[in-house]
Amino acid sequence: MKGKTILITGGTSGLGAAAARAFAAMEARVIFCGRRLAEGLQLETNIRPDGGEATFVQADVTNEQEVEHLLNETCRRYGPPDVAFNNAGANLYTGPLEQMTSRQFSDTLAVNLTGIFHSLKYEILAMKAHGGSIINTASTAGVKGVGQGIAAYVAAKHGVIGLTKAAALEQARHNIRVNALVVSAIQTEQWLQRMAAKPGMQEKIAAGMPIGRISTVEDIIPLILFLASEQSTYITGAAIPVDGGITAG
Ligand SMILES: NC(=O)c1ccc[n+]([C@@H]2O[C@H](COP(=O)([O-])OP(=O)(O)OC[C@H]3O[C@@H](n4cnc5c(N)ncnc54)[C@H](OP(=O)(O)O)[C@@H]3O)[C@@H](O)[C@H]2O)c1
Repeated sequence: MKGKTILITGGTSGLGAAAARAFAAMEARVIFCGRRLAEGLQLETNIRPDGGEATFVQADVTNEQEVEHLLNETCRRYGPPDVAFNNAGANLYTGPLEQMTSRQFSDTLAVNLTGIFHSLKYEILAMKAHGGSIINTASTAGVKGVGQGIAAYVAAKHGVIGLTKAAALEQARHNIRVNALVVSAIQTEQWLQRMAAKPGMQEKIAAGMPIGRISTVEDIIPLILFLASEQSTYITGAAIPVDGGITAG
């Protein structure tokens, strides 16, 4: 990864921040975005004293112009990205489908699906001349239904896998690979905060995982590094589970 340019959307916390630290520790040049300025600048500051190269650009992936600006900044500072990790996402609404407003539905699609479209569009334009690897964060909710009031998120994450496959086929002859991560619950800070409000829920989820525990970012990072690397050059259009076996049956 030394000297490679790595772009990460949704890098201000959780999996994206862990990926930013991991790539920077391998001497890559990392540029990452999110909406929260303080968190972004804090991570930038934390990475640099360890010798890493990281730049935060405040950008909302639902806004096409901000994503275009993010890619322009990436090219200006470090050159076109070698790797893009499109990780920004969030479940914005929990409740029965029949009570969901059209706005709640479209806002959920905007961040989880349209955000990936905006990112793919400008990353592909920037990578066209030299190729690259793009990794989209989907979810187990992108390969199976979930009957717990997150229908918009489920629809969006299914869409992420569809976009991944279509983009992979369009770009296969241009040396741009596009793959997706099928992740289950990950113990990120924000996830743990949500669980704190629901006593017993974490234990219940862990008990339901075939592997018997909930994942941590350390379980996911090796797959991201592999898909980013030259060791995975024959893999494209894949939605790869790193989910403790939950989608196996
Ligand atoms: N944790 C889990 O259990 C789990 C399970 C399955 C899938 N996932 C997926 O994994 C990915 C990472 O989530 P996480 O668990 O690490 O949660 P997280 O800590 O909440 O991270 C989400 C990241 O996305 C960014 N983001 C959200 N909306 C954005 C927007 N409109 N524009 C730009 N950035 C935006 C957030 O930054 P700002 O707030 O600064 O904008 C943050 O950096 C997401 O795609 C999520 O859907 C997570």
